[in-house]
Amino acid sequence: MAPMTRNFSPRGIPDRNVASYYRKRAESGVGLIITEGTTVNHKGANGYPKVPAFYGEQALAGWKQVVEEVHEAGGLIIPQLWHVGYMRKRGIEPDPQVPGYGPMTVQAKGAIETIGLTAEDIHDVVMAFAAAAREAENLGFDGLEIHGAHEYLIDQFFWEKSNQRTDEYGGSLERRLQLALDIIRAVREAVSNNFMVVFRFSQWKQQDFNAKLARNPEELERFLIPLAAAGVDVFHASTRRFWEPEFEGSPLNLAGWTRKITGKPVITVGSVGLDTTFTSSFGGKTAHPTGIDELIRRMEADEFDLVAVGRALLADPDWINKIRDGQDCEIEPFTKEALETLA
Ligand SMILES: Cc1cc2nc3c(=O)[nH]c(=O)nc-3n(C[C@H](O)[C@H](O)[C@H](O)COP(=O)(O)O)c2cc1C
Repeated sequence: MAPMTRNFSPRGIPDRNVASYYRKRAESGVGLIITEGTTVNHKGANGYPKVPAFYGEQALAGWKQVVEEVHEAGGLIIPQLWHVGYMRKRGIEPDPQVPGYGPMTVQAKGAIETIGLTAEDIHDVVMAFAAAAREAENLGFDGLEIHGAHEYLIDQFFWEKSNQRTDEYGGSLERRLQLALDIIRAVREAVSNNFMVVFRFSQWKQQDFNAKLARNPEELERFLIPLAAAGVDVFHASTRRFWEPEFEGSPLNLAGWTRKITGKPVITVGSVGLDTTFTSSFGGKTAHPTGIDELIRRMEADEFDLVAVGRALLADPDWINKIRDGQDCEIEPFTKEALETLA
Protein backbone atom coordinates (compact mmCIF):
# COMPACT_ATOMS: atom_id res chain seq x y z
CA MET A 1 0.00 0.00 0.00
CA ALA A 2 1.39 3.39 -1.04
CA PRO A 3 1.75 6.13 1.60
CA MET A 4 -1.39 8.28 1.62
CA THR A 5 -2.13 11.24 3.88
CA ARG A 6 -5.58 11.08 5.46
CA ASN A 7 -5.85 14.03 7.90
CA PHE A 8 -7.66 11.88 10.45
CA SER A 9 -5.33 12.32 13.42
CA PRO A 10 -6.50 15.29 15.52
CA ARG A 11 -3.63 16.87 17.53
CA GLY A 12 -1.26 14.58 15.64
CA ILE A 13 -2.46 11.46 17.43
CA PRO A 14 -3.38 8.37 15.40
CA ASP A 15 -6.36 6.86 17.19
CA ARG A 16 -8.38 3.62 16.82
CA ASN A 17 -9.82 4.85 13.54
CA VAL A 18 -6.32 4.84 12.07
CA ALA A 19 -5.52 1.38 13.45
CA SER A 20 -8.67 -0.15 11.99
CA TYR A 21 -8.12 1.59 8.63
CA TYR A 22 -4.70 -0.09 8.25
CA ARG A 23 -5.88 -3.35 9.78
CA LYS A 24 -8.59 -3.58 7.11
CA ARG A 25 -5.92 -3.42 4.35
CA ALA A 26 -3.75 -6.07 6.04
CA GLU A 27 -6.80 -8.32 6.40
CA SER A 28 -7.62 -7.98 2.74
CA GLY A 29 -4.19 -9.23 1.68
CA VAL A 30 -1.85 -6.22 1.46
CA GLY A 31 1.64 -7.56 2.15
CA LEU A 32 3.43 -4.36 3.14
CA ILE A 33 1.77 -1.12 4.21
CA ILE A 34 3.65 2.17 3.99
CA THR A 35 1.81 4.56 6.30
CA GLU A 36 0.69 8.04 5.42
CA GLY A 37 3.41 10.64 5.96
CA THR A 38 4.04 11.11 9.70
CA THR A 39 6.03 14.09 10.96
CA VAL A 40 9.42 14.04 12.64
CA ASN A 41 10.00 16.15 15.75
CA HIS A 42 10.99 19.50 14.24
CA LYS A 43 8.82 22.61 14.66
CA GLY A 44 8.39 23.08 10.91
CA ALA A 45 7.89 19.44 9.90
CA ASN A 46 4.11 19.48 9.49
CA GLY A 47 2.25 21.17 6.66
CA TYR A 48 -1.37 20.01 6.84
CA PRO A 49 -4.22 19.59 9.35
CA LYS A 50 -4.60 16.43 11.47
CA VAL A 51 -1.46 14.72 10.20
CA PRO A 52 -0.13 12.10 12.65
CA ALA A 53 3.09 12.92 14.48
CA PHE A 54 5.85 10.39 15.03
CA TYR A 55 6.94 11.71 18.43
CA GLY A 56 5.34 12.32 21.82
CA GLU A 57 3.92 9.72 24.15
CA GLN A 58 0.33 9.73 22.91
CA ALA A 59 1.13 9.67 19.21
CA LEU A 60 3.62 6.84 19.67
CA ALA A 61 1.10 4.86 21.75
CA GLY A 62 -1.34 5.28 18.86
CA TRP A 63 1.24 3.99 16.39
CA LYS A 64 1.97 1.01 18.63
CA GLN A 65 -1.70 0.05 18.40
CA VAL A 66 -1.53 0.39 14.60
CA VAL A 67 1.50 -1.91 14.39
CA GLU A 68 -0.07 -4.50 16.66
CA GLU A 69 -3.31 -4.64 14.70
CA VAL A 70 -1.57 -4.90 11.33
CA HIS A 71 0.71 -7.66 12.62
CA GLU A 72 -2.26 -9.53 14.09
CA ALA A 73 -3.86 -9.44 10.65
CA GLY A 74 -0.69 -10.88 9.11
CA GLY A 75 0.64 -7.74 7.42
CA LEU A 76 3.89 -5.79 7.56
CA ILE A 77 4.01 -2.03 8.10
CA ILE A 78 6.56 0.80 7.91
CA PRO A 79 6.02 4.49 8.72
CA GLN A 80 6.79 7.20 6.17
CA LEU A 81 8.89 9.84 7.97
CA TRP A 82 8.13 13.34 6.74
CA HIS A 83 9.27 16.97 6.86
CA VAL A 84 7.35 19.23 4.47
CA GLY A 85 9.94 22.05 4.26
CA TYR A 86 8.59 25.15 2.55
CA MET A 87 5.20 23.52 1.89
CA ARG A 88 4.31 24.53 5.45
CA LYS A 89 2.39 27.79 5.74
CA ARG A 90 1.97 29.92 8.85
CA GLY A 91 -1.24 29.04 10.74
CA ILE A 92 -0.77 25.29 10.54
CA GLU A 93 -0.65 23.12 13.67
CA PRO A 94 0.98 22.25 16.02
CA ASP A 95 2.21 25.87 16.52
CA PRO A 96 0.44 28.24 14.11
CA GLN A 97 3.11 30.94 14.64
CA VAL A 98 5.88 28.80 13.15
CA PRO A 99 6.66 29.59 9.48
CA GLY A 100 7.97 27.15 6.90
CA TYR A 101 11.61 26.04 6.88
CA GLY A 102 13.28 25.29 3.58
CA PRO A 103 16.60 25.44 1.73
CA MET A 104 16.36 29.22 1.32
CA THR A 105 14.72 32.23 2.95
CA VAL A 106 11.78 33.35 0.84
CA GLN A 107 10.29 36.79 1.25
CA ALA A 108 6.63 37.02 0.24
CA LYS A 109 4.82 40.36 0.08
CA GLY A 110 6.85 41.94 2.84
CA ALA A 111 6.58 38.99 5.24
CA ILE A 112 8.99 36.09 5.55
CA GLU A 113 7.25 33.01 4.21
CA THR A 114 10.03 30.46 4.49
CA ILE A 115 13.15 30.55 6.61
CA GLY A 116 16.33 29.05 5.15
CA LEU A 117 17.66 26.33 7.46
CA THR A 118 20.93 27.20 9.22
CA ALA A 119 23.61 24.57 9.80
CA GLU A 120 22.25 24.23 13.34
CA ASP A 121 18.66 23.77 12.09
CA ILE A 122 19.88 21.12 9.66
CA HIS A 123 21.50 19.28 12.54
CA ASP A 124 18.19 19.39 14.45
CA VAL A 125 16.27 18.03 11.47
CA VAL A 126 18.77 15.21 10.96
CA MET A 127 18.55 14.30 14.65
CA ALA A 128 14.74 14.37 14.46
CA PHE A 129 14.80 11.78 11.65
CA ALA A 130 17.25 9.64 13.64
CA ALA A 131 15.04 9.81 16.75
CA ALA A 132 11.98 8.82 14.71
CA ALA A 133 13.90 5.90 13.21
CA ARG A 134 14.82 4.66 16.68
CA GLU A 135 11.17 4.89 17.74
CA ALA A 136 10.05 3.00 14.62
CA GLU A 137 12.24 0.07 15.57
CA ASN A 138 11.21 0.25 19.26
CA LEU A 139 7.53 0.19 18.34
CA GLY A 140 7.96 -2.98 16.30
CA PHE A 141 7.58 -1.56 12.79
CA ASP A 142 9.12 -3.66 10.01
CA GLY A 143 11.33 -0.87 8.70
CA LEU A 144 10.80 2.77 7.75
CA GLU A 145 10.53 4.95 4.69
CA ILE A 146 12.21 8.34 4.39
CA HIS A 147 10.06 10.74 2.34
CA GLY A 148 12.54 12.20 -0.11
CA ALA A 149 9.98 12.90 -2.87
CA HIS A 150 7.26 15.28 -4.14
CA GLU A 151 8.99 18.59 -3.40
CA TYR A 152 9.02 18.20 0.38
CA LEU A 153 12.08 19.16 2.43
CA ILE A 154 14.61 16.56 1.26
CA ASP A 155 13.50 16.92 -2.36
CA GLN A 156 13.63 20.74 -2.06
CA PHE A 157 17.34 20.32 -1.32
CA PHE A 158 17.75 17.96 -4.32
CA TRP A 159 16.12 20.30 -6.83
CA GLU A 160 18.34 23.03 -8.29
CA LYS A 161 15.38 25.36 -8.67
CA SER A 162 14.51 25.32 -4.96
CA ASN A 163 18.07 24.98 -3.65
CA GLN A 164 20.46 27.79 -4.51
CA ARG A 165 22.43 27.61 -1.30
CA THR A 166 26.11 28.42 -1.47
CA ASP A 167 27.24 26.26 1.49
CA GLU A 168 28.01 22.53 1.38
CA TYR A 169 24.25 21.75 1.07
CA GLY A 170 23.82 23.52 -2.29
CA GLY A 171 25.45 23.88 -5.70
CA SER A 172 26.36 20.71 -7.62
CA LEU A 173 24.10 17.65 -7.68
CA GLU A 174 26.48 15.99 -5.21
CA ARG A 175 26.13 18.87 -2.75
CA ARG A 176 22.36 18.97 -3.12
CA LEU A 177 22.37 15.34 -1.93
CA GLN A 178 24.09 16.28 1.32
CA LEU A 179 20.99 16.71 3.51
CA ALA A 180 19.64 13.32 2.37
CA LEU A 181 23.02 11.69 2.99
CA ASP A 182 23.21 13.15 6.52
CA ILE A 183 19.69 11.89 7.25
CA ILE A 184 20.23 8.41 5.80
CA ARG A 185 23.51 7.95 7.70
CA ALA A 186 21.99 9.16 10.98
CA VAL A 187 18.95 6.92 10.51
CA ARG A 188 21.14 3.96 9.61
CA GLU A 189 23.16 4.52 12.79
CA ALA A 190 20.02 4.77 14.92
CA VAL A 191 18.62 1.37 13.92
CA SER A 192 19.82 -2.25 13.72
CA ASN A 193 21.67 -3.40 10.63
CA ASN A 194 18.78 -5.57 9.47
CA PHE A 195 16.12 -2.86 9.96
CA MET A 196 14.86 -1.95 6.49
CA VAL A 197 15.42 1.63 5.32
CA VAL A 198 13.38 2.58 2.26
CA PHE A 199 14.01 5.87 0.45
CA ARG A 200 11.24 7.44 -1.66
CA PHE A 201 12.21 9.92 -4.37
CA SER A 202 10.60 11.43 -7.46
CA GLN A 203 11.63 13.38 -10.50
CA TRP A 204 8.34 15.30 -10.57
CA LYS A 205 7.65 18.25 -8.32
CA GLN A 206 4.29 19.65 -7.21
CA GLN A 207 5.08 22.87 -9.09
CA ASP A 208 6.35 21.06 -12.17
CA PHE A 209 5.40 17.54 -13.23
CA ASN A 210 8.11 17.64 -15.93
CA ALA A 211 10.98 18.58 -13.59
CA LYS A 212 14.04 16.28 -13.70
CA LEU A 213 16.64 15.70 -11.02
CA ALA A 214 18.33 13.36 -13.52
CA ARG A 215 18.01 13.98 -17.25
CA ASN A 216 19.76 10.77 -18.29
CA PRO A 217 20.99 7.47 -16.81
CA GLU A 218 24.42 8.97 -16.01
CA GLU A 219 22.87 11.70 -13.87
CA LEU A 220 20.60 9.16 -12.21
CA GLU A 221 23.69 7.17 -11.32
CA ARG A 222 25.33 10.26 -9.76
CA PHE A 223 22.13 10.77 -7.78
CA LEU A 224 21.51 7.20 -6.61
CA ILE A 225 24.92 5.69 -5.93
CA PRO A 226 25.76 7.99 -2.98
CA LEU A 227 22.30 7.42 -1.46
CA ALA A 228 22.74 3.65 -1.76
CA ALA A 229 26.22 3.86 -0.26
CA ALA A 230 24.87 5.86 2.70
CA GLY A 231 22.64 2.94 3.67
CA VAL A 232 19.40 2.77 1.69
CA ASP A 233 18.12 -0.83 1.44
CA VAL A 234 15.18 -0.30 -0.92
CA PHE A 235 14.39 2.55 -3.32
CA HIS A 236 10.81 3.68 -3.92
CA ALA A 237 10.70 5.48 -7.25
CA SER A 238 7.57 7.62 -7.27
CA THR A 239 6.05 8.13 -10.71
CA ARG A 240 2.49 9.03 -11.61
CA ARG A 241 2.21 6.36 -14.37
CA PHE A 242 4.27 3.21 -13.87
CA TRP A 243 4.29 2.29 -17.60
CA GLU A 244 6.13 5.42 -18.78
CA PRO A 245 9.73 4.93 -19.97
CA GLU A 246 12.03 7.21 -17.96
CA PHE A 247 14.66 7.90 -20.63
CA GLU A 248 14.71 7.62 -24.41
CA GLY A 249 15.89 4.38 -25.95
CA SER A 250 14.65 1.95 -23.26
CA PRO A 251 11.21 0.92 -21.97
CA LEU A 252 12.48 0.87 -18.35
CA ASN A 253 10.58 3.09 -15.92
CA LEU A 254 12.26 5.06 -13.12
CA ALA A 255 12.12 2.08 -10.75
CA GLY A 256 13.59 -0.17 -13.46
CA TRP A 257 16.52 2.18 -14.01
CA THR A 258 17.02 2.46 -10.26
CA ARG A 259 17.25 -1.31 -9.91
CA LYS A 260 19.65 -1.55 -12.86
CA ILE A 261 21.92 1.19 -11.49
CA THR A 262 21.96 0.32 -7.78
CA GLY A 263 21.28 -3.42 -7.76
CA LYS A 264 18.91 -2.74 -4.83
CA PRO A 265 15.31 -3.92 -4.56
CA VAL A 266 12.92 -1.28 -5.90
CA ILE A 267 9.27 -0.34 -5.51
CA THR A 268 7.30 0.96 -8.49
CA VAL A 269 4.10 3.00 -8.20
CA GLY A 270 1.70 5.11 -10.24
CA SER A 271 -1.84 4.51 -11.49
CA VAL A 272 -1.70 0.76 -10.91
CA GLY A 273 -5.08 -0.65 -11.93
CA LEU A 274 -6.50 2.79 -12.77
CA ASP A 275 -6.77 4.94 -15.89
CA THR A 276 -5.91 8.41 -14.51
CA THR A 277 -3.18 9.83 -12.28
CA PHE A 278 -3.66 10.63 -8.61
CA THR A 279 -3.10 14.31 -9.31
CA SER A 280 -6.12 14.33 -11.65
CA SER A 281 -8.10 12.57 -8.89
CA PHE A 282 -7.30 15.57 -6.68
CA GLY A 283 -8.91 17.65 -9.44
CA GLY A 284 -12.13 15.69 -8.99
CA LYS A 285 -11.82 13.26 -11.91
CA THR A 286 -13.05 9.67 -11.45
CA ALA A 287 -10.41 6.96 -12.04
CA HIS A 288 -11.70 3.77 -13.65
CA PRO A 289 -10.28 0.25 -13.20
CA THR A 290 -8.01 -1.07 -15.96
CA GLY A 291 -6.67 -4.50 -14.96
CA ILE A 292 -2.96 -5.13 -14.44
CA ASP A 293 -1.64 -7.02 -17.50
CA GLU A 294 1.12 -4.51 -18.30
CA LEU A 295 2.19 -4.46 -14.65
CA ILE A 296 2.52 -8.25 -14.61
CA ARG A 297 4.43 -8.23 -17.88
CA ARG A 298 7.01 -5.80 -16.45
CA MET A 299 7.13 -7.63 -13.11
CA GLU A 300 7.89 -10.91 -14.93
CA ALA A 301 10.62 -9.14 -16.86
CA ASP A 302 12.20 -8.33 -13.44
CA GLU A 303 11.90 -4.60 -13.95
CA PHE A 304 10.97 -4.07 -10.29
CA ASP A 305 10.53 -6.05 -7.09
CA LEU A 306 7.55 -4.52 -5.30
CA VAL A 307 4.49 -2.58 -6.41
CA ALA A 308 2.86 0.17 -4.36
CA VAL A 309 -0.87 0.55 -4.88
CA GLY A 310 -2.56 3.76 -3.81
CA ARG A 311 -6.05 4.80 -4.81
CA ALA A 312 -7.13 1.36 -6.03
CA LEU A 313 -6.89 0.12 -2.42
CA LEU A 314 -8.98 3.06 -1.21
CA ALA A 315 -11.60 2.68 -3.92
CA ASP A 316 -12.02 -0.99 -3.18
CA PRO A 317 -10.63 -2.55 0.01
CA ASP A 318 -11.15 -5.93 -1.65
CA TRP A 319 -9.03 -4.95 -4.66
CA ILE A 320 -6.34 -7.58 -4.14
CA ASN A 321 -8.77 -10.47 -3.82
CA LYS A 322 -10.70 -9.36 -6.88
CA ILE A 323 -7.51 -9.04 -8.95
CA ARG A 324 -6.28 -12.40 -7.73
CA ASP A 325 -9.58 -14.08 -8.59
CA GLY A 326 -9.78 -12.43 -12.02
CA GLN A 327 -12.91 -10.45 -11.06
CA ASP A 328 -11.54 -7.24 -12.59
CA CYS A 329 -14.96 -6.17 -13.80
CA GLU A 330 -16.26 -5.96 -10.24
CA ILE A 331 -13.63 -3.49 -9.03
CA GLU A 332 -14.97 -0.11 -7.90
CA PRO A 333 -13.75 3.15 -9.52
CA PHE A 334 -11.94 5.80 -7.44
CA THR A 335 -14.31 8.72 -7.07
CA LYS A 336 -14.33 12.17 -5.50
CA GLU A 337 -16.30 10.63 -2.61
CA ALA A 338 -13.59 8.00 -2.02
CA LEU A 339 -10.99 10.81 -1.89
CA GLU A 340 -13.07 12.71 0.65
CA THR A 341 -13.78 9.71 2.90
CA LEU A 342 -10.39 7.95 2.74
CA ALA A 343 -11.96 5.16 4.79
C1 LIG B 1 -5.03 10.91 -0.85
C2 LIG B 1 -3.58 10.75 -1.17
C3 LIG B 1 -2.62 11.09 -0.23
C4 LIG B 1 -1.24 10.93 -0.51
N1 LIG B 1 -0.31 11.19 0.47
C5 LIG B 1 0.98 10.88 0.26
C6 LIG B 1 1.93 10.94 1.32
O1 LIG B 1 1.62 11.23 2.49
N2 LIG B 1 3.22 10.63 1.04
C7 LIG B 1 3.63 10.27 -0.22
O2 LIG B 1 4.81 10.01 -0.44
N3 LIG B 1 2.74 10.18 -1.23
C8 LIG B 1 1.44 10.45 -1.02
N4 LIG B 1 0.53 10.26 -2.04
C9 LIG B 1 0.96 9.67 -3.32
C10 LIG B 1 0.77 8.14 -3.29
O3 LIG B 1 1.68 7.54 -2.38
C11 LIG B 1 1.02 7.51 -4.67
O4 LIG B 1 2.34 7.73 -5.07
C12 LIG B 1 0.06 8.06 -5.71
O5 LIG B 1 -1.26 8.09 -5.23
C13 LIG B 1 0.12 7.23 -6.99
O6 LIG B 1 -0.38 5.93 -6.74
P1 LIG B 1 -1.86 5.52 -7.27
O7 LIG B 1 -1.91 6.00 -8.69
O8 LIG B 1 -1.86 4.02 -7.14
O9 LIG B 1 -2.86 6.20 -6.42
C14 LIG B 1 -0.83 10.44 -1.78
C15 LIG B 1 -1.82 10.13 -2.72
C16 LIG B 1 -3.16 10.24 -2.43
C17 LIG B 1 -4.19 9.81 -3.47
